[in-house]
Amino acid sequence: MAPSNRSIAEADFRSDTGTTPTPLMMAAMQRASHGDDVYGEDPDTNALQERVAKMCGKPAGLFMVSGTMGNQVCLRTHLHQPPHSILCDFRAHVYAFEAGGLATLSQAMVTPVHPANKLHMTVEDVRANLILGTDIHTAPTKVISLENTLGGTIMPIEEIAKISELAKRFGIKMHLDGARIWNASAETGVPLSEYGQYFDSMSLCLSKGIGAPVGTVIVGETDFIKKAEWFRKQVGGGIRQAGLLAAAADAGLNEVFPARLKETHDTTKKLAKDFEAMGLTFQLPVHTNFIFLDLFKAKIIPEVLIAEGKKLGINVTGARIAIHHQTSPEAIEKLKLAVQNSIAISRDYQGSRSSAGTMQYGMYEKVVDEE
Ligand SMILES: Cc1ncc(COP(=O)(O)O)c(C=O)c1O
Repeated sequence: MAPSNRSIAEADFRSDTGTTPTPLMMAAMQRASHGDDVYGEDPDTNALQERVAKMCGKPAGLFMVSGTMGNQVCLRTHLHQPPHSILCDFRAHVYAFEAGGLATLSQAMVTPVHPANKLHMTVEDVRANLILGTDIHTAPTKVISLENTLGGTIMPIEEIAKISELAKRFGIKMHLDGARIWNASAETGVPLSEYGQYFDSMSLCLSKGIGAPVGTVIVGETDFIKKAEWFRKQVGGGIRQAGLLAAAADAGLNEVFPARLKETHDTTKKLAKDFEAMGLTFQLPVHTNFIFLDLFKAKIIPEVLIAEGKKLGINVTGARIAIHHQTSPEAIEKLKLAVQNSIAISRDYQGSRSSAGTMQYGMYEKVVDEE
């Protein structure tokens, strides 16, 4: 028998996007309004947009199909006439993982910044990388785009405030990729509106930790959102009976934010402690719902971990472990076993690797076959 959606979600450590609709979400979808959102006539979509905007202290919001669309439409709306550039962390989703959208949709250059503290950008990093002035050789910075959480780590609000102050001084817009700002807020207790005061636009995903099947809401000033609606239409993001999706996302918010989300962080931190007891270290501190294992230091071959996970019926991508509100305790035990097995197998493999001098999955299979 095929596994139910729920059981797929509970053993999926690849991302918090692995969450599946809950019975409360399904019930909300059945009751959803059926208006046409391209005409702005759907009550449930309008209510969700208003709800998220209000939470962020903004006058207007707009429902988007995805986080990528939310970010790209926001940045396109801020940018008017090239040459122009966006300053962001070199790991930022808007730059590294949105299929080059900034180049094609916004004709923008990017200044990717490597934080000096190796954790998050500071105002000093930003100041050192801003492109200002009238030198015709340059593409001036028009937007600073921050991401919170990034790799599960929380950017301190004090740092955001300083960066925002600097941006204001030079007439630079501030955007937040807040795909997981819910996690930052649930963990720190800082309300979304406090984060919101420092940004001209925010994009908040509902299809990750919140668990909705689809959806992101962008928020900002009314004129900004009006203009963003044009760009959403341009990229095919106008949805007709959007109420079905909005209702599910709204139910997800009721169900998960903030208490259940905070619980996922506690589960993640407990798991991190168990990993440490196994001698593992991490690439980043564990603030919320992600653990980035240092597989290199532990001498674990990522493909081995993926394969060992599969044998036990869990889904892992390698170094990144994501916990969400549907992750089951049984799956966590299986994950720990998969990691333990991978340490043992990879150790055997290291011997063979040093003689071969390469590191290929095919060779791992050979070692296992020989056992
Ligand atoms: C930080 C961040 N921003 C934006 C996105 C894009 O979201 P989507 O997959 O809905 O396009 C993701 C996706 O994982 C993300 O991690």
